[in-house]
Order: sequence, then structure tokens, then C-alpha cells
Amino acid sequence: MMAQGGQRAHGLDRRSVVVGAVACCAAAGTAWAGPEDMLPQKGDRLVLGDGAKAGQPVTLDGLPVGGELVEAVAVDPQGVKREGSRFSKIILVRVAPDQIPEDQRAHTVDGVVAVSGVCTHQGCTITGWNHDSRRLSCFCHHSEFLPAEGGRVAKGPARKRLPVLPLARGEGGTLMVAGAFIGKPGPGPA
Ligand code: FES
Repeated sequence: MMAQGGQRAHGLDRRSVVVGAVACCAAAGTAWAGPEDMLPQKGDRLVLGDGAKAGQPVTLDGLPVGGELVEAVAVDPQGVKREGSRFSKIILVRVAPDQIPEDQRAHTVDGVVAVSGVCTHQGCTITGWNHDSRRLSCFCHHSEFLPAEGGRVAKGPARKRLPVLPLARGEGGTLMVAGAFIGKPGPGPA
């Protein structure tokens, strides 16, 4: 009996350990998420996300008015790129500062606007930019967004605006993150 009880006790202990480990790992799914998995944070600096100059600081000089859309990555103060989540994807465009409504200018630097690069319809990557119409577009189902107007939807099927990432001026004409995305990146209701 004692032996059986002892075996049961040991069995229970083993189960407890397994259950505990599973609970621990499940919790760790969040607890162990590193800085690379976090969305852009205030104080991060921005670097170029693709092309031959990937990893170099984003500068105002490299973002002329009328230029192309630029993909950027936020880097934390310890130098960790926040690339673990696709919802961290950032795109930058630049328009003339007077084309940005007053209530949006505080989030921008010299006409540079940062928004989430993930379409709010079904999550495709935003890749199109037309400076003349000042619209970003998604080629999956042709939604269009106005980044300078708080990322609002100009044409569906998307219904939810593109979250704007507030920017601040860094040293030497670089760009910093001034706050979290305004809104949750990715698909969702309006
Ligand atoms: S995923 Fe972008 S329009 Fe459908």
C-alpha cells in the first residue's frame, strides 16, 4: 500500500511537474517574448528595412518629398531590431508639411509620416504609394489609405484606418519613435 501510495504520489508528482511545465511554457509564450517581438516603442530609432542600405539609420535626407515609400524597422536602445512580429512592419512616406492636417502634425517630422505596413483588410503588406494622390495602396484587394490623414481609409474593402506611428526628430536628421502605434496594427473592424 505504502509502495503503491508512494508510486501514486510519485506519479502525481510527475504529472504535477508536467502540468506545471506546460503552464509555465504557456505563460512563457508571453513572458519570454523578447524585445524583438514587441511592437515599436517610444525611444526606438528607425533604420531602413530593406534594400542595399538595410540597417542604416533612416534620415530626412533619404526621404525626399515626392519620393518612394520606405520600409523601416524600429531598433531598441540596446540595438535589438523589432522584427519578431510582422505587425511591427513600418512604412514611411513624405509629403509637404502643409498637406498634413493640423491635428496630425504632432505625429510627423517635416512631412514624414509613419504608418503600419500591414493592411487592415486581410493583412497583406502595403506596397503601393502614389504621391500625387497621397494614397497608400494594397494590391491584394486594392484598398487605399491616406497616411497623412491619420491613415484613414480612402477606398475599401478595408474599413479600419492604418495605425499611425508617432515620430520624433533624432540626432543628425534621423528619426525616432515617439510613441506606440495609434490603434492596433493588422486586420480588424472599423
Ligand atoms: S488585404 Fe489589403 S485590400 Fe485586402
